[in-house]
Amino acid sequence: MYSKEVMEHFMHPRNVGIIEDADGVGEVGNIVCGDVMWIYIKVGENEKGEKIIKDIKFKTFGCVAAIASSSKITELAKGKTIEEALKITKEDIAKELGGLPPVKMHCSLLATDALKEAIYDYLKKNNLPIPEDLQKEHERIEKEKKFVEEKFKEFVEKQKEMAKQKTNKE
Ligand code: FES
Repeated sequence: MYSKEVMEHFMHPRNVGIIEDADGVGEVGNIVCGDVMWIYIKVGENEKGEKIIKDIKFKTFGCVAAIASSSKITELAKGKTIEEALKITKEDIAKELGGLPPVKMHCSLLATDALKEAIYDYLKKNNLPIPEDLQKEHERIEKEKKFVEEKFKEFVEKQKEMAKQKTNKE
């Protein structure tokens, strides 16, 4: 089911961990599958004075494809300018991983979302201009998060309700 490259990144993920004094942190999750991902970035400058991703680390509680995708995106983003890093797509990740099964494409989307959120966090904290596209993406991610939390809340309340009914009958 998985390519050799996916298995290689799953078995030996690159840049795993936390950056304690990160300049930006992105946290995303997919409640449907339950996978959660964090990306930490440290921002520096290249010789042209452009802002670059100097260091990047990730932490993922997730499936094989999610771990391989987060490992791959850290490799792809390291050393890139903020603008270049924002252009990394889920298709780029899948291609670099030697392909991902269609049902696993959302795992690579989780990785691009986590990186976007980390960059958004960095720009916001430093009062830097946020590109319009990134602002829209952030709003989409936030909306999805809220939607999922709402859905989850209802589910939890329903479960409680059912438990209560059951106890009342007993
Ligand atoms: S199954 Fe959800 S991120 Fe992979």
